[in-house]
Amino acid sequence: MRRIGVMTSGGDAPGMNAAVRAVVRRALAAGVEVFGIRHGFLGLLRQEFTPLAMQSVHDIIHRGGTVLLTARCEEFLTPAGQARAVENISAAGIEGLVCIGGDGSLRGCVALERLGVPTTGVPGTIDNDLGGTDATIGFDTAVNTAVEAVDRVRDTAAAHERTFVVEVMGRSSGFIALHVGLACGADAILIPEVPWAAEDLCRRLRADAQNGWRHNVIVVAEGAGHGFELGQRIEQGTGLETRVTVLGHVQRGGSPTAVDRNLASRLGAGAVDFLLEGCHGVMAGVQGSSVAPVPLRLVTSTRRAIDPSLYELAAVLSSWRGGSGSVVDR
Ligand code: F6P
Repeated sequence: MRRIGVMTSGGDAPGMNAAVRAVVRRALAAGVEVFGIRHGFLGLLRQEFTPLAMQSVHDIIHRGGTVLLTARCEEFLTPAGQARAVENISAAGIEGLVCIGGDGSLRGCVALERLGVPTTGVPGTIDNDLGGTDATIGFDTAVNTAVEAVDRVRDTAAAHERTFVVEVMGRSSGFIALHVGLACGADAILIPEVPWAAEDLCRRLRADAQNGWRHNVIVVAEGAGHGFELGQRIEQGTGLETRVTVLGHVQRGGSPTAVDRNLASRLGAGAVDFLLEGCHGVMAGVQGSSVAPVPLRLVTSTRRAIDPSLYELAAVLSSWRGGSGSVVDR
């Protein structure tokens, strides 16, 4: 291969820039040119290609967001859009592609592979919900950002003797909520993987209040319920003064942690190595201490499940578990 492309796609994640840097520098070190594709799959359709040099990725390892910009692109989902993307890739002399993103982005890689474009993926999403890798880029940073926020909320919750609901990201997975809730000693953690009922939670909060419990912090994943609705239910069902904080996109920004920078550097370089070795149609995943190629079809056809023993631990430490008390395979 003489020229490859690199792009970021879908929701941004802290550490994407570190991954872009690693892709560019690893490829240049192997004598391969790199084109940056701006705005992900949308940029493939709009031919937003820019040559990248060593210097182009200088001073970005510590920055959140993505210097290549990102987008969600409906048009690429159509056969006509995909055919146009392939034409543009070939017209630009790009012989292989590295795509950094989450579930939807990796599905886009599968489509390109099927149309003959050698593609490797890098797992970049704060949700940590991809199979075939122990971790995704951005998760550690998002968890640390949310932990800091919840610690602050706990201070004011204690000062006013209030109940707080903190909604964290995770449209369909509870990884962030579980890891944040465990790290913050949340009084209840609500995740989409475990059914729960507001009445049970209210009963428990009423009992705790009778035992002199003065304040609570409840962490809810956005996919498990809406923070504001839950806050209202709690106030109505317990009489406890309740406030709600939705952390939202705050969790997606900020400088990546060292864990995410190093993970991104390893996975970005790994994705280039696989591509240049002719091993494409794979995602570079971290498994234990190694970087391994994981077939994209496998990654996109399975969803990573949370660790039931971790949920169990969180449940024991907070003495709250969802209705059925066990993790449901989604
Ligand atoms: O990046 C994944 C994610 O953070 C989800 O947890 C969340 O639901 C979604 O992105 C929201 O992203 P957007 O506002 O960009 O659609």
